[in-house]
Parts: sequence; structure tokens; C-alpha cells
Amino acid sequence: MVSYKEIQASNALINDTTAPRVAVFVGGTSGIGMYTIRALVGTGASVRIYHVGRPSSEERMRAFVQELHALNPKAEVIWTEGEIALLAEAKSVCETVKRKEPRINLLFLSADVAQPLLSLVAVTSCAM
Ligand SMILES: NC(=O)c1ccc[n+]([C@@H]2O[C@H](COP(=O)([O-])OP(=O)(O)OC[C@H]3O[C@@H](n4cnc5c(N)ncnc54)[C@H](OP(=O)(O)O)[C@@H]3O)[C@@H](O)[C@H]2O)c1
Repeated sequence: MVSYKEIQASNALINDTTAPRVAVFVGGTSGIGMYTIRALVGTGASVRIYHVGRPSSEERMRAFVQELHALNPKAEVIWTEGEIALLAEAKSVCETVKRKEPRINLLFLSADVAQPLLSLVAVTSCAM
């Protein structure tokens, strides 16, 4: 298993040349995803992050985006609304990103959709 020290050493190599230019985070409104966005932005590198989340999290995320901008003005964080347990919305998020970017360099998926899935299956035919 990779040691924490090795991970830190690797992360220390992230700069403007090596950073993922375009990143998509799904599940970045809390937990692992949110901490990783903060760490990536904190490297000071030029990155563009599509921050995919549900409408209920948007208000709360405004303060987070401001915090990120103060941490690294070169980072661009784009709030992208999406309830990804719904296929139509997952597709719409993909189309939105595809329209703007020829490629993405980092896809970070930490949305725990298992719980919502259990209830969504009962109410929509669109559940994953
Ligand atoms: N934390 C750990 O130590 C750990 C260790 C091993 C594995 N894991 C696993 O890693 C995953 C992430 O863990 P975490 O601690 O970061 O969890 P978390 O804090 O609960 O974060 C989950 C994220 O997923 C988003 N999300 C959930 N359902 C969504 C949906 N349908 N559409 C869009 N976004 C959705 C949540 O958004 P909202 O803000 O809208 O709810 C939140 O941003 C989980 O599956 C967990 O079991 C965690």
C-alpha cells in the first residue's frame, strides 16, 4: 500500500505544469470530494473545476467557492447543478461539460448514491 508520506510527496509535485487543467468533481459538496477540491485548489495551480452537485447544496457552496477563490485566484470553480442518481441529469451534466471542454484531466466521483437510489427506485423510472 502507498504510504501517506509517498502521497504527500507526490502531491507536492502538483504545480501549474503538472496539475489537471480540467477536473470534474461529483460529490464535492462534502467529505472526501470537498477536501480534495480544497487541496487541489490549495496547490496554487491553474485549474478549472466543474463542481457537480444537487440544487439543495448550491447555497451552502457559495461560501465554499468564495473561500477557494481567496485561496487561489487562478482556480476557476464552476457550479454545475446535477442530481446524478437521475440518468437524464447525469447526461445533461456530461453534455454541459462536453460543450465547454475538449477533454477532462481528472474525474473525481465520490457521490454516495446508494442511499438515494433505494428511495428513487420507488418513485422514478429514471433512477440508476
Ligand atoms: N469518508 C471516509 O472515510 C470513506 C472511506 C471509505 C469509503 N468512503 C466512501 O466514499 C464515498 C464518499 O464518502 P464521503 O465521506 O465523502 O461522503 P459524504 O460526505 O456523504 O459525501 C457524499 C457526496 O456525494 C453527494 N451526493 C450524494 N448523492 C448524490 C446525488 N444523487 N447527486 C449528486 N451528488 C450526490 C453529496 O451531496 P449532497 O451535499 O447534496 O448530499 C456529497 O457531496 C462514500 O461512498 C463512502 O462510503 C468514505
